[in-house]
Amino acid sequence: MLNEQQIRADFPILSRTVHGKPLVYLDSAATSQKPRQVIEAIVDYYRVHNANVHRGIHALGDEATELFEQARATVAKFINARDPREVVFVRNTTEAINLVARAYGGRVLGPGDEVWTSAVEHHSNLVPWQRIAAERGATTRYFPMDDEQSLPESALEMLTNRAKIVALVHVSNAFGTIHPVERAIAAAHAVGAVVLLDAAQSVPHMPVDVQALDCDFLAFSGHKMCGPMGIGVLWGRLELLEAMDPFLGGGSMIQEVFYDHATWAEPPHKFEAGTPNVADAVGLAAAVRYLESLGMANIRAHERDLVAYGLRALGELPGVRVYGPADPDRHGGVLSFTVEGIHPHDLGTILDQEGIAIRSGQHCCHPAMRALGISGTARASVYLYSLRQELDQLVAGIARAREVFDLA
Ligand code: ALA
Repeated sequence: MLNEQQIRADFPILSRTVHGKPLVYLDSAATSQKPRQVIEAIVDYYRVHNANVHRGIHALGDEATELFEQARATVAKFINARDPREVVFVRNTTEAINLVARAYGGRVLGPGDEVWTSAVEHHSNLVPWQRIAAERGATTRYFPMDDEQSLPESALEMLTNRAKIVALVHVSNAFGTIHPVERAIAAAHAVGAVVLLDAAQSVPHMPVDVQALDCDFLAFSGHKMCGPMGIGVLWGRLELLEAMDPFLGGGSMIQEVFYDHATWAEPPHKFEAGTPNVADAVGLAAAVRYLESLGMANIRAHERDLVAYGLRALGELPGVRVYGPADPDRHGGVLSFTVEGIHPHDLGTILDQEGIAIRSGQHCCHPAMRALGISGTARASVYLYSLRQELDQLVAGIARAREVFDLA
């Protein structure tokens, strides 16, 4: 069990008001709030240790390098990676997927090959594959979604040995679906494809173990897991990272440079050209320590309870359709819904006046929204600091919006 009041006291922003009302922050799928432990770690880095890494032969350079590499080791342990060298620091999930598309896809894909994603992917797990497939003469293919915006296991039978890469979202940012990725990974491996998981909405919210999952690449962002913006992680199997070409060229990613060619550093440095975001890697490590101090299984249990409560409460409201699985065991911390007669943007604006922050729109999932024939959804997303009482306020806000629109 999480101690809600103690946790909320760690997040300074949660005590502010919006439009004169106490903030009800239900937009953690877009970005989470930050505890003081993370804010202080970043300030402390700049105040006491700041220097460039892997370069200076001086005390501050050594300290900064040590903190940066310790952050890598902390993240590696958090996802149960075999080796910290499998952790590449990037800006965010989007950059991690682009890195794999270019540096792995660009190497292995050829005419006739297939890259498989699903009908419910975020644009960041569609567009990079569309681009690299077009360049290499390969094809992008999509697993369909079922009536609960989940990947049906029967769809996995569509895979053939033309599939070289299967890139799947673990937990849908648009609908909250926890996809059956273990079975997808086994099916992909059975036809010789490698698997990338977009774990932006899973790593922050539940225990994720890359060895137990048996995936090949995993991408996630620091800012959705109590860490700062501008730092993300690509985890990849070491042997795959070793075989890949670099993504960006420049300082730090080389072994030797000549006027006409260069040789590459070993992973992870091969993929970290230029000065890295050291302070935010340090902040991310502080976020990981914070999450570990609470326990990822406890965080998931807390969110599961909130989601079960929210699914019931929203389901009882007239004119409300909730997307994603009805079973809270298969539903992450995202409650995505439409209210008949109210555009999601209008609902978001009315709720904002009450101090309630949600996201409205297509959630970077145009194809899925188009397939469902809707212009978007309203999305309330919870995290470790969220309360049942905040979901009550959401429900009351929706009821008021229905009054405003004369629907009550
Ligand atoms: N991908 C983030 C979201 O779903 C920004 O809101």
